[in-house]
Amino acid sequence: MGVGRKILIGVGVVIGIAGVAAGSGYAWAASAAASKLSTTYDVHRVEFPIPFPLTAAEVDSVRAVRRAGGGSAADVTERELTAIATERAVARGKHLASSFYACAECHGQDFGGGVMVDDPAMGRLLGPNLTTGAGSRTLTYTAADWDRMVRHGVKPDGHASPMPSRDFFSMSDRELSDLVSYIRSLPPVDKTVPAVSLGPVSKILIATGRFPLSAQLHPTRHEIAHAVLPPPDVPDVTLGRHLAQTCSGCHGAEFAGGTIVEGPPDWPPAANLTPAGLSGWTYDDFRRALVEGRSKDGRPLRAPMSLLQKMAANMTEVELRALWAHFSALPPRPTPQ
Ligand code: HEC
Ligand code: HEC
Repeated sequence: MGVGRKILIGVGVVIGIAGVAAGSGYAWAASAAASKLSTTYDVHRVEFPIPFPLTAAEVDSVRAVRRAGGGSAADVTERELTAIATERAVARGKHLASSFYACAECHGQDFGGGVMVDDPAMGRLLGPNLTTGAGSRTLTYTAADWDRMVRHGVKPDGHASPMPSRDFFSMSDRELSDLVSYIRSLPPVDKTVPAVSLGPVSKILIATGRFPLSAQLHPTRHEIAHAVLPPPDVPDVTLGRHLAQTCSGCHGAEFAGGTIVEGPPDWPPAANLTPAGLSGWTYDDFRRALVEGRSKDGRPLRAPMSLLQKMAANMTEVELRALWAHFSALPPRPTPQ
């Protein structure tokens, strides 16, 4: 079961029963949820290339290779350069999708559609088909549409989407562009995924703010410029801080752990990843926790952390060391109660 699917279910059942019992409270919740979902949001219109072109240094090195092979540097055509840029972008996007940005959890391993939640209380929140096949929702998407949807939780028509975008807020333009290049390179899947239909519980959760719509988190965020490039690929705090944003949904904005607010009640609290929690840990202990799913004392880590193992297996040594550099440099903070 995917991380996304498990999130919300438990919270839903508890609040849902209370809410439905309240009757008239439910009528209020249904209309409050509908009004939150029908509000439109102003989001900046950014543009970025898909794929990102090769840098001047990369173009020079392609030309140098051509010369070394006995050809003329002038023979390298624009078309060839675009093909090489696409190939590299697809490879970077594939890496991102299999290590840090878990789109496939809800959109399916083939990106042809998947399940976030599907039960009578919560309703059906399905990840739509993002490939180029029949039933695709993204065929006409521009870079600006991808930005609004993925980094702001706002659909191209300006309405809030129920897709949780929090982990993607600080993605750079190039990372998003690389993900799009990768998704577009996948075999087309012909599948029409039904639109979201909210059950009584998700309406109550949305109305009461327990299931926050990403579009509503940090309302001032919609005008703030995004980084164009991710930090350089070196194992330092800067790259670590950037990648660790994808851990903050569970471990908290300050990484001090505690109850996972948006998770079901049967999830254990997230661990404190500041030196207060990881006291005495080495890089090898940290790496083992992620890649093998074991704590320092050998105890197997429980779900949902255990679900991250397959992503961690694809993280590079540089990325793992960067994460460790970031966590070990944080000020120690107590776990919130
Ligand atoms: C936790 C589950 C989840 C994750 C993770 C997730 N999505 Fe979604 N996504 C959804 C849901 C639910 C919708 C809304 C479906 C609807 O409106 O019918 C959605 C909608 C979308 C849409 C809008 C399609 C349309 O209707 O116009 C795009 C584009 C998209 N997601 C891209 C992505 C990308 C790229 C990633 C990874 C960076 C990602 N999603 C990660 C659940 C998820
Ligand atoms: C979906 C929620 C979720 C996400 C996302 C997540 N974690 Fe966790 N993590 C947890 C939970 C819950 C635990 C506690 C598991 C347990 O105690 O069995 C945990 C435990 C850990 C531990 C073990 C600490 C200890 O004391 O044993 C480490 C290390 C860790 N997480 C690192 C990370 C890193 C790094 C990321 C991001 C790349 C991340 N986690 C993303 C939920 C999450």
